[in-house]
Amino acid sequence: MWRDAIQQVLISEAELHRRIQALGRMITADYRGSELVFVAVLKGALMFSADLARAVDLPLTIDYVALSSYGDRQVSSGRVHLLKDLSETIANKHALIIEDIVDTGISLQYLWNHLMSHHHPADLNVCALLNKRARRRVDLPIKYAGFEVPDAFVVGYGLDFQQRYRNLPFIGILHPEVFAPGPW
Ligand code: PRP
Repeated sequence: MWRDAIQQVLISEAELHRRIQALGRMITADYRGSELVFVAVLKGALMFSADLARAVDLPLTIDYVALSSYGDRQVSSGRVHLLKDLSETIANKHALIIEDIVDTGISLQYLWNHLMSHHHPADLNVCALLNKRARRRVDLPIKYAGFEVPDAFVVGYGLDFQQRYRNLPFIGILHPEVFAPGPW
């Protein structure tokens, strides 16, 4: 039972919905009249990008890149791998990176540099559902941030521990027993 693995529900399904609708309204207002492309980062941003896209009332295209820096580790390896690049060009378009979480900032910096040097968007901004500042090593501006989160192991709504818990409909703090087994 996944509920046994969750120490605390940090952000409920209703809170996620409300905040994502608000982010969608901001993005709609800011990009009115522009050609906007979501560059969503797999796998974590799968749920967030799908819900945010439906909260944006603009013509919009969505593309996915896949990055990995954690693998099954709990701490960033510091080495980011691009597992999948964009499928369509974003040259001269207004691109918005959609991330589930910015933690150390290393993945975001890698993606930012990759998109700017290889794909030449007209402009590039960042929308992150969760902002965990406690372990930040590289600071890039996050134009749209959903929630500030503490330095805890958060899972759900796309975020995983060893690929599990992505399907939880809320953001929860994982019980330490799950990622650092006993003695308790
Ligand atoms: C997670 C998350 C971000 C990144 C943030 O991805 O989706 O892309 O880590 O961490 P950072 O700011 O410390 O770089 P992960 O590598 O776990 O892959 P996943 O999205 O497939 O879970």
